[in-house]
Amino acid sequence: MVRRSIVRLVDALMIWSMPVVLRNLNRVVQIQAGHTACLKQGFRLLKYDPNPGLTEFREILVELTRLLKPSVYVEVGVSAGYVFNAIVPFVPQAVAVDINPMPLIPDRPNVKKYVMPSEEFAQKWSGEIDFLFIDADHRKEMVLKDFDLLAPFVKEGQGLIFLHDTHPVSPDLLSDDRCSNAWEAAWEIRTHSRYKDFEIVTIPGPRAGLSILRKATKQLAWM
Ligand SMILES: C[S@@+](CC[C@H](N)C(=O)[O-])C[C@H]1O[C@@H](n2cnc3c(N)ncnc32)[C@H](O)[C@@H]1O
Repeated sequence: MVRRSIVRLVDALMIWSMPVVLRNLNRVVQIQAGHTACLKQGFRLLKYDPNPGLTEFREILVELTRLLKPSVYVEVGVSAGYVFNAIVPFVPQAVAVDINPMPLIPDRPNVKKYVMPSEEFAQKWSGEIDFLFIDADHRKEMVLKDFDLLAPFVKEGQGLIFLHDTHPVSPDLLSDDRCSNAWEAAWEIRTHSRYKDFEIVTIPGPRAGLSILRKATKQLAWM
């Protein structure tokens, strides 16, 4: 008799408390889902960005690649491939150009390496380019030379050109082994009439800065 009463009491308590339990369970599941999403995002950033000082724009370049799906990505000045290797999974063809060997760029079917000065690469290259990232010799004349030699290969209207180190945030970044005077190249393109067909926007910092350019003689590329 006493046992039956206790069982009934427990049953009643459980039925009464079930909505509260379910509500809390739901909340726990939601919080857990939120944590998982944050963790995933964190791992993604960590994976892409082990050295944020060197790769301040890697996420932007990768996201633009994912969104716009360029067929041919060319990076001039690749070094250890912080940006290049993050882009490789998202493009049918990725082309790496550097005067130094690139042991950290893995051999993949969609990767082509050119160990040579950018000038020599420009003579060898003949195809169209969708995204061109110029990040080699940062002296103004050299940036402009890379731009003049390679921009003609970039698809008018839809292709994008990226110049790194064009808005360093402090004078100590202007030495030749860092950003040098690449910013003057960006300004020349911005102001000189021979570059009038190029749109250019420069992102000021957060450390070295980036310019994004598009050749456009009309607004809609497809019209
Ligand atoms: C700043 S690092 C590139 C960093 C790389 N883009 C990244 O995001 O991690 C510059 C690279 O340009 C290369 N370089 C310098 N002058 C060059 C030239 N004339 N042609 C091709 N590569 C050059 C250097 O060997 C160096 O690896």
